[in-house]
Parts: sequence; C-alpha cells; structure tokens
Amino acid sequence: MSHELSTMNPLKPLRAKVDDVKIEAEGVKTYTLSTEFPFLAEPGQFNMIGYPGVGEAPISLSAIVNDGSFKHTIKSVGRVTDFLKDFKKGDELFFRGPYGRSWPVKKAEKKDVLIIAGGVGLAPLRPVIQIVLKRREAFGEVSLIYGARNEKNMLFMDEFKIWEKDISLYITVDEVSDVSKSPHPPFTKGGRGGINIGLVTDLIDGMKIKPERAIAFVCGPEIMMRFICRGLIMHGMSQSSLYVSLERRMKCGIAQCGHCQHSGLFVCQDGPVFSYKEVCGLPDGVL
Ligand SMILES: Cc1cc2nc3c(=O)[nH]c(=O)nc-3n(C[C@H](O)[C@H](O)[C@H](O)COP(=O)(O)OP(=O)(O)OC[C@H]3O[C@@H](n4cnc5c(N)ncnc54)[C@H](O)[C@@H]3O)c2cc1C
Ligand code: FES
Repeated sequence: MSHELSTMNPLKPLRAKVDDVKIEAEGVKTYTLSTEFPFLAEPGQFNMIGYPGVGEAPISLSAIVNDGSFKHTIKSVGRVTDFLKDFKKGDELFFRGPYGRSWPVKKAEKKDVLIIAGGVGLAPLRPVIQIVLKRREAFGEVSLIYGARNEKNMLFMDEFKIWEKDISLYITVDEVSDVSKSPHPPFTKGGRGGINIGLVTDLIDGMKIKPERAIAFVCGPEIMMRFICRGLIMHGMSQSSLYVSLERRMKCGIAQCGHCQHSGLFVCQDGPVFSYKEVCGLPDGVL
C-alpha cells in the first residue's frame, strides 16, 4: 500500500473517478480509475470496490499504470457488480486497498513462467504479463495459457497481438460461439499455439515443461486450478513452484471479520495468492 494510503483509516473508503470504461467481454467491463492520492499496488492485490448503500466487493487490480491510475476488470454477477456496470466516464465510486499478498514476480525472475488463466481469472494476471513485457530479459520462456467458455467470454483479446510478440500464447475455448454477436472481431488464428477447442488442462498435457526451472501462476475457477496444479505436478513441478489466487466472500479485507477464513488462513490477508503447497488438501477447499 502506498505510504499516504496506509497512514489513513484502512476501513475508510476513498473516492475514485472513472476515467474510462471499456467493454471487454459479455458482462465484463474494464474501468480505468484515478484518485487524488498516489496509488501503488503489486500484481495480484485487490481493492474493495463499492458504493454507499450498495456494498463492497473484492476486485483484483487488472492493471497498475505508472501515472497513478489503476484498472479493474469486473464481471457483473450480483448486487455490487451489477450496480457498477452502468458507471460511465466522470462517475465516482469508492475503494479501499490495495490489500492482500501479490504474485511472487521476483521469484519468477530467470525462470520459465507459466501464466495460466480461465475466464475472468486473466484479470489478476494481466499486471504480471505487463511486468514481464516491460522487463522481458529478466525472465526465461514465458507462456500464457488461457481458456474461456467461448470468444464472447474472453478478456483482453485486442492485446493478444502485442503480447504474442514477446510471450507464447496458448488459447483455448470450450466451444465456438456465435462470433457475429461477439463484442470483438472473431479470432484470427494467432498465437504460437494457435486457437484450440478444449480445456486449459488439455493444453497443459501437451506442453513441454522443464520442471526444475518453471514457475506457474494460476487463476480461474477453483476446480480448474486443482486440475491444472495436479497436471503440472505430473510434469514434475513441485507444489512450492505453483501459485494460485483464491476467491472467498469478503467483508473487511484486512483480517478482522473472519468472513474469508479458509482453514485458519485469512484469504484477504494471507492471500489471495498462495503457493499450492500452502492450500492443497485443506479441509473445505477443492484444491
Ligand atoms: C481476491 C478476489 C479478487 C477478485 N477479483 C475479481 C476481479 O478482478 N473481477 C471480477 O469480476 N470478480 C472478481 N472477484 C469476484 C468478485 O469479488 C465477486 O464476483 C463479487 O464479490 C460479487 O459481488 P456482488 O455483490 O456483485 O455479487 P453477490 O450479490 O454477492 O452475488 C455473487 C454471486 O455469489 C452468490 N452468493 C451470494 N451470496 C452468497 C453467499 N453468502 N455464499 C455464497 N455465494 C453467494 C450469488 O448467488 C451470486 O451468484 C474477486 C474475488 C476475490 C475474493
Ligand atoms: S474479509 Fe474480513 S477477515 Fe478476510
């Protein structure tokens, strides 16, 4: 958290101005926000985003921009996120944060990096991709393995062409949708892996991974993360080289209320990013 923000009451929401709204996919928008205070965050951290009288929801940073602005990519699924979906440029919303533990990007230096995402799970990983692209020489082979239900549910498609200049893209959809109704142009057959139809786990099975020099950052539905992690372990990777981002319902965001507790861990503070070793096999989890 930046010094200015951390010295304030951590539960007091601050105003943020909506500078831009972009439709990413069906029911998903990216909001570019700015605040009068300097804002610093690490990739993988989240803000509690909300509005008085409506509530708050934990939302990851989907980009941290040098000029102090930041982005959130939000899928409308319920009370708070539905309320936010009609926000326009110039509107104000409220946020607290940034909170939580980030992806261990420093640990990934000199390693082959597997960035593996499903659906909206690409949002918390986009800041990692941005760091890799900025300091490409600091990392070994970098691959993005991304799956969504169909093209209409795929995030950041207009950035794939830029990303694939420096990292390998392996993209897959569960099904081919009616692309004529998609907010994006249909896929060009891009990416070094091309476009596949099938599950993200199928892509992992076919990959050549050097387990001793690889690290994986995985974000998506918990059941997907479980199968991905098991698949990577079959490739010889260790539990401590796999990282996942967990989702639990949250209230305070700062380890005070207990809402997000998962077998003694506070997902809001001890996570949301955990090594697989820390969370694998915990009671009441699916990992
Ligand atoms: C660390 C973290 C980061 C996240 N990052 C993002 C992100 O970048 N982008 C994004 O789109 N989402 C993200 N999420 C998910 C997001 O927080 C939720 O989708 C959001 O909280 C929904 O809030 P809501 O008020 O809109 O929906 P709600 O009204 O709370 O409903 C959301 C869904 O949960 C169900 N639900 C409601 N109450 C309960 C309950 N008590 N127990 C279980 N299920 C219930 C509802 O039926 C509905 O399907 C993140 C979550 C976490 C924990
Ligand atoms: S959200 Fe309150 S303890 Fe984590």
